Amino acid sequence: MQHLVAPSLLSANFLQLEKDIQMVNRSQADMFHVDVMDGHFVPNISFGFSIIKQIKSVAEKPLDVHLMISEPDKYLQDFKEAGADWLSVHYETCQHLHRTIQQIRKLGMKPGVVVNPHNPVDLLQDILPDVDFVLLMSVNPGFGGQHFINNAFGRIAKLNKMRKERNPELLIEVDGGVDTSNAARLVHAGADILVAGSAVFKSDDPEKTISTLKKPT
Ligand code: DX5
Ligand code: ZN
Repeated sequence: MQHLVAPSLLSANFLQLEKDIQMVNRSQADMFHVDVMDGHFVPNISFGFSIIKQIKSVAEKPLDVHLMISEPDKYLQDFKEAGADWLSVHYETCQHLHRTIQQIRKLGMKPGVVVNPHNPVDLLQDILPDVDFVLLMSVNPGFGGQHFINNAFGRIAKLNKMRKERNPELLIEVDGGVDTSNAARLVHAGADILVAGSAVFKSDDPEKTISTLKKPT
């Protein structure tokens, strides 16, 4: 399958958010990546439900909501109501991950699990059949514009092998430091979804950068 591109609105210009959303609507991007941070699980605070609802009212593509929050179970229903289509939770935040994933699916969203760069992908072995996607962090979560951590290539390749046996439908998403220089190699390693924040929104021509990420060389 052709890989997907999900621009991360964390790097958009919040004073002209609608304009940036319309750019993504027009572009070849496949969905919106929406980063939710609570200042507890990660050392930064981003945005909550009311902004997501407003994003949803203008977005013409699915919302891929990445939760970087402690105790995500408390808010799953609220994210559904705010407009999340895909919802991912960090492995590191869930005591009962299987239950959380089941709940996300029951609410009608695509469930995903996220792992930080230091956590081995082997930890996901027994949850792979239950999730629609795995989001591999290629930076430590919390901020846009950080340097890509190189171990992501090997991690993607390993997960790519694991899914063949455990869940061939599983999608692999990669997030953090993705740009036009590493996109081709990430797709080649097995990534199906590229998240890119600063590479898109800080570029001179964001729409063109999205096209390049769709067809990286
Ligand atoms: C980081 C977030 C990312 C962030 C990526 O914690 O999960 O989605 O927006 O930003 P870039 O692409 O600038 O690294
Ligand atoms: Zn993210």
